[in-house]
Amino acid sequence: MNIFNDTAALRKELSNKQTIAFVPTMGNLHDGHIALIEHAKQQADYVVVSIFVNRLQFLPNEDFAQYPRTLDNDCKLLSMVGVDTIFAPNEKTLYPEQQDFLLTLPAVADTLEGKFRPGFFCGVATVVLKLFNIVQPQLALFGKKDYQQLHIIRTMVRQLNLPIKIDACKVIRASDGFALSSRNAYLTQTQRTEAGKLYHILQQTKKEINSGCKNFESLQKKAIDYLTQRGWEVDYFTIQNSKTLLPAKTDDESLIALTAAWLGKTRLIDNIEI
Ligand code: PAF
Repeated sequence: MNIFNDTAALRKELSNKQTIAFVPTMGNLHDGHIALIEHAKQQADYVVVSIFVNRLQFLPNEDFAQYPRTLDNDCKLLSMVGVDTIFAPNEKTLYPEQQDFLLTLPAVADTLEGKFRPGFFCGVATVVLKLFNIVQPQLALFGKKDYQQLHIIRTMVRQLNLPIKIDACKVIRASDGFALSSRNAYLTQTQRTEAGKLYHILQQTKKEINSGCKNFESLQKKAIDYLTQRGWEVDYFTIQNSKTLLPAKTDDESLIALTAAWLGKTRLIDNIEI
């Protein structure tokens, strides 16, 4: 397995590869990332994983400094799962000068996560486009846990005519249903036990919709009340059209419930397709 910090050396290694599948990450890898890599290995001859904690997608008051950086462990894990190349650039490699050239995103990027984390998706889309240009993969993999991110990347690839297929993998969950995420490391043991309730209420909501309830507003309120009473601080719990990510209408066929909520100082996001 190769590890490159440098763009020129990476490009040279990739220059004669037929089909490259790419999994961009911020490291501190877990089974959710491994599922993406396993999928990548089935689809392509050559798999590249990037590890880069992207400053551009953190607000000034967010956890950029604390974000778990576990490069040595990540490299061991990636070598065990049979990744061909890791691209782990430092800040100067990816941002050698101030990144003034930023993408203008569609309005959906200002809703949900974008409403609570202004500029987040601009930071994500900008770094993903840079990484796509460096790696030039035929296929890139993203997890459905970050459903809105996946939606925005797909829109970017389509509207900017990037010759890259985007595949999505399902949310990987612990035995109590809690979605795996690098930020889960911040939770205390008590919080971790409580965290499973986020998926529980998503499932409850799905059950009620599937048994015919179309009063989305009351379902949203019920879920927010449930979490709030248990001590969560809810940023949003909402039912949207899963294709457009606009608020759901009663005759929409594909729906998704999405939520973001704080447990103590940790902000968790999750969703369920209906
Ligand atoms: O989902 C993530 O881990 C990040 O947002 C990504 C796509 C690697 C961009 O920094």
